[in-house]
Amino acid sequence: MRNKVTIVGSGNVGATAAHWIASKELGDVVLIDIVEGVPQGKGLDLLEAMPIEKRDSHVIGTNDYADTANSDIVVITAGIPRKPGMSRDDLLNTNHKIMKDVVSKAVQYSPKCILIIVSNPLDAMAQAAYKMSGLPRERVIGMAGVLDSARFRAFIAEELKVSVENVTAFVLGGHGDTMVPLPRYSTVAGIPITELMDKATVDRLVQRTRDGGAEIVKYLKTGSAYYAPSSAVAEMVEAILKDKKKILPCAAYLEGEYGIKGLYVGVPVKLGSKGIEKIIEIKLTSDEQAALNKSAEAVKELVAVIGV
Ligand code: NAI
Ligand code: 2OP
Repeated sequence: MRNKVTIVGSGNVGATAAHWIASKELGDVVLIDIVEGVPQGKGLDLLEAMPIEKRDSHVIGTNDYADTANSDIVVITAGIPRKPGMSRDDLLNTNHKIMKDVVSKAVQYSPKCILIIVSNPLDAMAQAAYKMSGLPRERVIGMAGVLDSARFRAFIAEELKVSVENVTAFVLGGHGDTMVPLPRYSTVAGIPITELMDKATVDRLVQRTRDGGAEIVKYLKTGSAYYAPSSAVAEMVEAILKDKKKILPCAAYLEGEYGIKGLYVGVPVKLGSKGIEKIIEIKLTSDEQAALNKSAEAVKELVAVIGV
């Protein structure tokens, strides 16, 4: 039995996620969008690439949720992206309306699925999707930390001129300007970066990570990043479908972990076939905990606006 992954929203992130997932042969892919023709065209184009890639992933595009039935994973990328000068939070009301449209339809056709939410503002959209889906918290997961920590890893590797494979990094908190990159838990071959760089350099890379989304928006002008975000989606999809039990930073609904209750915030989790199989609680210094609390407060404000 082959795995089935539906991607709602066939724009930049959705179509590129389909590309990574199909070319890694993680399963069959259904692209769905409100716009007629675009998912069909992109789906067919990807299908026609599979003989060259030597992959037997079947890819289709559609506007009909019936085609998404019985998906193992549904990735939600539907929504508007930000433009220069906009923050992720400016997308709140528009994307909440879109979330209301897509979540119930997706879950109606795939009641056993795991939902991966990508649309921004990420933590608030994950919370909205969790509440409207009726699924347990382990099956509604937000993608942000894998992207933010990949950015931090890329900047660390570039700075120290070492292989990206040697670099691990952790970013906690909401996917916004208050995110919390954790230098103490970010390492090169097991050595904390605080041992390898001076404080000013660490602080510069932390700030660049926080501004990572805006840096790309400034270049692109008409939209936001999509190669790294979609690659992050594919890593989460792979961890779930292959039951890898991989520890990744993801947005999860906290019920008291890290002292936070009733809110989606980015934390390290174990991802496997059941979705979030464990929330990993690591010891934070008082400064780190304060930064995480501040980030959670920012999410709480957004969640209050949309009442979820
Ligand atoms: P995009 O504009 O290229 O694609 C969005 C797609 O959603 C469009 O094709 C649009 O037609 C579709 N859509 C809109 N309403 C829909 C509906 N009701 N049903 C089905 N499809 C619908 O945007 P892009 O760059 O793909 O970004 C998508 C979202 O992901 C944005 O909200 C963006 O901010 C967010 N994002 C989040 C990241 C994260 O780390 N969590 C990283 C990158 C993007
Ligand atoms: C990013 O961080 C826009 O959230 C998106 O690139």
